[in-house]
Amino acid sequence: MDRIIIRGGRPLNGRIAISGAKNAALTLMPCALLTDEILELQNLPRLADVDSFMHLLNQLGVSTMVKGAKGDGFSRTMTLKASDIASTVAPYDIVRKMRASILVLGPLLARAGEATVSLPGGCAIGNRPIDLHLKALQALGAEIELAAGYVKATAPEGGLTGGTISFPTVSVGATENALMAAVLARGTTVIENAAREPEITDLAQCLIAMGAEIEGLRSDTLTIHGKDRLHGAAYQVMPDRIEAGSYACAAMITGGALELANAREDSMHAILAGLKDAGGEVEILDNGIRVSANGATRPLSLSTAPFPAFPTDMQAQFMSMLALADGTSLLTETIFENRYMHVPELSRMGADIEVRGRSAVVRGVDHLVGAPVMATDLRASMSLVLAGLAARGETQVNRVYHLDRGYERLEEKLSAVGADIERVSDG
Ligand code: UD1
Repeated sequence: MDRIIIRGGRPLNGRIAISGAKNAALTLMPCALLTDEILELQNLPRLADVDSFMHLLNQLGVSTMVKGAKGDGFSRTMTLKASDIASTVAPYDIVRKMRASILVLGPLLARAGEATVSLPGGCAIGNRPIDLHLKALQALGAEIELAAGYVKATAPEGGLTGGTISFPTVSVGATENALMAAVLARGTTVIENAAREPEITDLAQCLIAMGAEIEGLRSDTLTIHGKDRLHGAAYQVMPDRIEAGSYACAAMITGGALELANAREDSMHAILAGLKDAGGEVEILDNGIRVSANGATRPLSLSTAPFPAFPTDMQAQFMSMLALADGTSLLTETIFENRYMHVPELSRMGADIEVRGRSAVVRGVDHLVGAPVMATDLRASMSLVLAGLAARGETQVNRVYHLDRGYERLEEKLSAVGADIERVSDG
C-alpha cells in the first residue's frame, strides 16, 4: 500500500492547475445513460472514483473511450455511449467502494424503466441514508422495493410522470437523481428545496446541452419539462472548488502564495471569505485565484451548511489551518454526524482540538510535529497532508487510496510548488 511522506516547513509558492471537479464528474458521467447518442465529457479528472464509475457504466452497457491529456497535461476527455442498456443492476462490490454509484438510479429508471442498486450502507463520515433519493423517484411514479440489501425501482407502464418533489432537507445526491430522472419523465416536475451546489448547476447545464428543458438554475426550485428523448452533447466539467480550496489552505498553512489556475470565484464565495477572515489575501485573476498568507492566521468561527454556505468538504482542511492560528476557533459540522475522524490524528501531531458534540474547539498552537498518521476518508486525509506540510519533521500519511479518490496527482502538484513530498510504495 502506498504512503505519502512529507518533510514539512517549506512555504509553497507558484501555480497549481486545478482539475475538473470530482463531484461534478460523478454526476455528469451517468447522464450518458439518458441517451443513445454520444456524451463527450471534457476536463475529467484522473481519479480512482472516475475510473470506478466508468467501470460501473461499462457493466451497464455504456461503451467508453478516454482521450489523452489536455491543457496542463492532467485532465482527459471521455466519450460515453449507451446505445442499449445491457444491465440495470449496480452491484454491491462497486457501490460499497463508491457511494456515488447511487447516481445511476435516476437515469437508469428514466431510460430503461427499472433500476436495481445495492444499498450503499454506512460510510466513514456517517450513516448517509438514501431515503430522499427514493422519495423523489416515488413522486415521479416509481415503485420502490427493498430486498436483500438492494433497492429496486420500477417505473409505471408508459414511464415516469412529472410531479412535485419537495425535499425536507437539502441533499446534493437526491437532487441530482431527481433531476436526471425528471428530464425524461412525461410532463413537468418541480423540485423544491433543491440543493444549489455548483455541481448541480453543472449537471443542469449538461442536461440542457443534451436537449433537456430546465428552469431555475442556481435557485432552490428547479422546474423540468420532460422530453421524450435527449441527444448527445459535448460538455466541459467545472473546476474542482474543493481541490482549489484545499490548495488555498496549503498556501495559508505554509506561509506561501499559490495561484490556483482555473479556480472559479463564483463557486467558492464562502471558502474565500473564510480565507480572508483568517487573514489571507485573495486576488481574483482572469482565469484563477491567487491566495497568499499574510502574517499569522486568525481564528475563525465557522459552521458547515449547504451551498452557498461553507462546505462540509472543506471543514477538515480548515481545521488543520486553524490548528496553527493565533487564537481559538470554533467549527461546527451540521451536515454529517461523524466527520471529525481527523481530530485524533491532528492531535497526535500536536494540535489542541476538543470535540463537543457537533462542534470542535480548535486552540491554535505554535507548531505541529510530523508523525505517522492515517485517515478514513478523503477530506480528512487531505487535512493530514496539510498539517504535514506545515509540521516540523516528517509526516507519513497512510491509506493514500483515499487521496487518490479525489486529488489528481497530489504529490506532483505539491512538489512543483516547493513541497518536500513523495509517494512511497511498500510493494
Ligand atoms: C455530496 C458530495 C459530498 C458532500 C455532500 C454534502 C458527491 C459525490 N458527494 O454527497 O462530497 O460532502 O454532498 O455537500 O457529490 N441525507 C438523508 N437522506 C438521503 C440523502 C441525504 O438523510 O436520502 C442526508 C445525509 O445523511 C447528510 C445530508 O442529507 O446528512 C446531506 O447529504 P447529501 O447532500 O445527500 O450528500 P451526498 O450527495 O451523499
